Amino acid sequence: MVIPVITLDGPGGAGKGTISQIIAGKLGWRLLDSGALYRLTALAAERRGVSFDDEVALSEVARNLDVAFLPGEENEPVRVMLEGTEVSKDLRTETCGNNASKVAALNGVRDALLQRQRDFREAPGVVADGRDMGTVVFTDAPLKIYLTASAEERASRRVKQLQGKGIDAKFQAILSEIQTRDERDMNRAVAPLKPADDAITLDTTNMSIPEVVNHIIELAGEYS
Ligand code: C5P
Repeated sequence: MVIPVITLDGPGGAGKGTISQIIAGKLGWRLLDSGALYRLTALAAERRGVSFDDEVALSEVARNLDVAFLPGEENEPVRVMLEGTEVSKDLRTETCGNNASKVAALNGVRDALLQRQRDFREAPGVVADGRDMGTVVFTDAPLKIYLTASAEERASRRVKQLQGKGIDAKFQAILSEIQTRDERDMNRAVAPLKPADDAITLDTTNMSIPEVVNHIIELAGEYS
């Protein structure tokens, strides 16, 4: 039996993380937060003093990542462990996101993480959140969604999300970081961020989270 996958790709702050988590919960499927793997690579490299220009050393860091995703308490997000220590909060900073986007532009790092991502494909299904889930990692996924929203709307959501977690955040700074990251993710040579040819694009600028979730669940029903 082919194990089904729903891919959710799109720029940062489009709501992929929250929406993927809700959909995976509703369907009882596994969740792949592929961005966390790039963030973990950046964090592990930083902690070991590996330069973000050293592709060979960064690829080794990615290949040997010692990580675990532990289920959170009820309604709580997954707890991410790096080398036995919880790093869930460290991963969500803008600095970590920007560093992740630098290491993610390197072919060696992407190759090192490819199989680890594909290994998430287990019955009854997986919801895969990222930038290249539909274009590279799960090209045969029956349902591919490209989730987007205006940069301003994404920045304002990110500010609220960070503040909710007790992390200080300023709109202008976040907006310019989002624009820099979009630029880097969309224009890199390897696995640039773009919708797969067979993806359905959803612009969520004026949609609520439940509206987006319901729409995708309906589509999942049509495609199963
Ligand atoms: O989604 P998230 O913000 O956690 O991703 C952090 C960075 O990791 C992105 O800006 C992107 O550069 C990179 N990434 C990627 N491919 C993925 C997921 C994330 O290149 N599948």
